[in-house]
Amino acid sequence: MSEKSVPNAEEFDFLVIGSGVAGLFTALHLADHGRTAVITKDILTESNTEYAQGGIAVSLCPKDTPEDHERDTLAAGAGLCDVPAVRVLTQEGPDAVRELMRLGMRFDRTNGELTLAQEAAHSRRRILHASGDETGHEVERALTRRTRIHPDIEILEHTQVTGLLVLEGRCLGVDAIVDDGGERRRFLAPATLLATGGLGQLYPVTTNPLVTTGDGLAVAYRAGAALRDMEFVQFHPTALDDEGSPKFLISEAVRGEGAVLLNEAGERFMPGVHPLGELAPRDIVARAVAEQMRNAAGHVYLDFSPIPPDRIQKRFPGIIAECHRRGFDVYHEPIPVAPAAHYMMGGVNIDLSCHTDLPGLLAVGECACAGVHGANRLASNSMLEGMVFGLRAAEVARKLAGLSAEQASQAAHLPEAPVRYAPPTLRGQLQELMDVDVGLERSSDSLGRASEALAAWSKQVGSAPLASREEIETANLLLVGRLVVAAALTREESRGAHYRTDFPEASDDWRYHLVLRLGPDGQPLIEPMPVLDEAPSPHTAD
Ligand code: SIN
Repeated sequence: MSEKSVPNAEEFDFLVIGSGVAGLFTALHLADHGRTAVITKDILTESNTEYAQGGIAVSLCPKDTPEDHERDTLAAGAGLCDVPAVRVLTQEGPDAVRELMRLGMRFDRTNGELTLAQEAAHSRRRILHASGDETGHEVERALTRRTRIHPDIEILEHTQVTGLLVLEGRCLGVDAIVDDGGERRRFLAPATLLATGGLGQLYPVTTNPLVTTGDGLAVAYRAGAALRDMEFVQFHPTALDDEGSPKFLISEAVRGEGAVLLNEAGERFMPGVHPLGELAPRDIVARAVAEQMRNAAGHVYLDFSPIPPDRIQKRFPGIIAECHRRGFDVYHEPIPVAPAAHYMMGGVNIDLSCHTDLPGLLAVGECACAGVHGANRLASNSMLEGMVFGLRAAEVARKLAGLSAEQASQAAHLPEAPVRYAPPTLRGQLQELMDVDVGLERSSDSLGRASEALAAWSKQVGSAPLASREEIETANLLLVGRLVVAAALTREESRGAHYRTDFPEASDDWRYHLVLRLGPDGQPLIEPMPVLDEAPSPHTAD
């Protein structure tokens, strides 16, 4: 530990780390009750949410019900969803979406009614969208606008959290570095909420922006909070297969409108793989695409031609424009697509009130895991989860007692834990390793190799009073990579997004979550946790 304490600790009522839909939606529901800091390592709008295309799944049309939405979510989750968590998502989803609209979100409408799209593994049309395929951008527009004008929200951009402040087993705030290695800051609050998103940058081929480096997972784990379901990384089946990086997503909604997947020979292959064809659950489509690419040693293409041109124009203006910019004309030829890392089903272990097991620390959105997504997330459930659980987190955080003067003073004078950093040159090697050995398919051999390489690289992680953003992110990626590998090596079965070539079937013996905690020897302690099949009596967040 460094002996130096951090000067100028600043106290807030609430700290929100991250500025995607989960962070901003929660912050807006906290700020009417106290001074709220929104802390983000980049600019306010840079998050996974900004790039989300498909939309928000919710049962809002008269023919749909939360029960139908629940059934579809459970089916996609391959036996690993917690029913109470899914029920919260689907039952509370409609109110959360109405609240988003009250905050200024403009969904697409037809004759005044919300337009509903179809996506894979949904039994009916229930996906709300905006500007055709720019739903995430519209969510960020609405929420950042409100955030910027709220008198009790302070926006701290370019401020990277380096560690949690823990005193007598309670989280009292965070330490951070501003302006890419510039100076240290300390922020105190009775409630700290992690909403830092996923870890797509663990992989070289990902739809996620550069900010997705698993930071929230890493700081929570180092502080003693439990993580779960880390072996379940979702690969989206259809990212544009060009040189660009991150990969440009071709929304599942395109297949929902009728586009089909073709192999190198120009033939459809999905009908032979699954009765739902191109609209099978995401893990199944992604593996089938990868198999075609491997076996036929060729490309896989997405053919828009079954969709009428005027409909393509209306529904997918963003995709058309970006494909055009990259030299592809969706009207005239099928475009090459390939799977890309897209979403982390696991995360910081939370209960239905978003508590982690570290008092004072809450988590919400992609960095959190309440058991909603199981082994495979149903398309367009993620922004909904961020909002539904964000409302719950806000309700809980508002009730946490403020810091006493003594606690604040003690926390202000805690010595700062040294910042963990690693050489950014490791990042490319790490991504390559994850792609080859811990990708869509894994085995005991490949995971063993990955584990050894990661252990060796982790020796290059150092500690210092200051470090650059890239160095801190690289250390975080190495840590979360080790945790993904450890969980994937432990789970000797295939389920949802976790496919082991040496254990190709799902097994009832493995139907539980894996919880990971930092052990006394610095290695993860991995324990089973039951899957919850029964919903408890109606829940109130408290
Ligand atoms: C998509 O538009 O295909 C992505 C939707 C999602 O990941 O839920």
